Amino acid sequence: MTTKEFRELFPILTRKVYGKDLVYFDNAATSQRPRSVLDKFLTLSQESNANIYRAVHKLSAEATDAYEQAREAARAFVNAGSREEIIFTSGCTAAINTVAFSFGQAFVKAGDIVIVGEGEHHSNLVPWQLLCERAGATLKILPIDDKGHWDLSVLKRLLAEGCPVAAAQRVKLVAVTHISNVLGLVNPVEELIRLSHAAGAPVLVDGAQGIVHERVDVQAMDCDFYAFSGHKVYAATGTGVLYGKKQWLEQMPPFLSGGEMVGTVTLEHADFAGLPHKFEAGTGNFASIATFPEAFETALLAREPEIANAYEEVCAYLEDALRARGDLRLYGESETFRGEAGPTGAYRRAGVFSFTIDGVHHEDVAQVLDKMGVAVRSGLMCAEPVIRHFGVSGMVRASLAPYNTMEEAEYFIKCLDKAINLLR
Ligand SMILES: Cc1ncc(COP(=O)(O)O)c(C=O)c1O
Repeated sequence: MTTKEFRELFPILTRKVYGKDLVYFDNAATSQRPRSVLDKFLTLSQESNANIYRAVHKLSAEATDAYEQAREAARAFVNAGSREEIIFTSGCTAAINTVAFSFGQAFVKAGDIVIVGEGEHHSNLVPWQLLCERAGATLKILPIDDKGHWDLSVLKRLLAEGCPVAAAQRVKLVAVTHISNVLGLVNPVEELIRLSHAAGAPVLVDGAQGIVHERVDVQAMDCDFYAFSGHKVYAATGTGVLYGKKQWLEQMPPFLSGGEMVGTVTLEHADFAGLPHKFEAGTGNFASIATFPEAFETALLAREPEIANAYEEVCAYLEDALRARGDLRLYGESETFRGEAGPTGAYRRAGVFSFTIDGVHHEDVAQVLDKMGVAVRSGLMCAEPVIRHFGVSGMVRASLAPYNTMEEAEYFIKCLDKAINLLR
């Protein structure tokens, strides 16, 4: 399949904005949806709309089947060992909060340590701040350098401090992003997981961006939790997945309660259903979750060589064109990472370009581009500490998907030139 054919799967990409062809470069915020995903949502809503798990009638059985097929699709997509390890949520944020509350309640106590990256989206920072406040634990930061790379020597030091010989192990969790939504670099999560596990600390990976650009195999990665949203990877919105190793999920109390997440309920007491239902209180977002098989099929299609190679060329062109401007600073440096276990492909840029331009405000650039039909993000990108790290008040972010073409990238560069000339 060619990029042109792949692009034709997405009806929205033919629309005009202010009379111009839409150039959608805000994919890190949300991706567009293929016709197959839209059709699945509509068919389920039109033909099989009924509450899942609860009734014996045909419609309920069909909706429940679609929901469970989505679970199998998610399991296969991340290569989890079992469907019990796949918890449906409303998004990546909800998945991370589930761990912060539930794992936090079970394992994080006063005096313990939670480590988070400096380059995190607020969704993988604020839940840990709140957990540490609740528990009386300490939040420690794994810093990034000016290339946007982790300083793993600091991680080693924090892990060693947290685990003094003969004392109780105090680093209870390390929570980091697979790919930063600002810098767009693939982080060396395998190396971080190896180091953390050697010190006895489990690892949560925020995969909101990672799931889009990387082939995720949670067993090979050996992460303890992997969280992502459906809407960034072609599925309907209001959907997400928490993968968790069974050994942890079984020991964790439910986060939210009510609905079908119970075993037996008396007026005084409830015991809980097995995995994954223990973590799925209330009625799941079944019509949207049901779009997972079609969404993941689309993601796999995008990884076929013809489309993937064309996408790489578009990204390489864009990076070169941005770097060619002396007045523009692009954040995050691609570089081959060599961990103790050898190269892992980390610190490759994955289609996300955040930059500032001398003398021009990021929001003005985004507004002028919008009038030219180009959708980009500007501002803090829900990751204020990363933006502050680089000493700026905001950035422009162009984030691409495999349906974006070379013509769009060239048009974007032309529009950017025009916008800068206009604003100076
Ligand atoms: C790295 C990262 N983590 C977490 C999130 C939160 O995702 P959601 O808003 O879908 O819950 C995002 C969204 O942009 C993200 O990019």
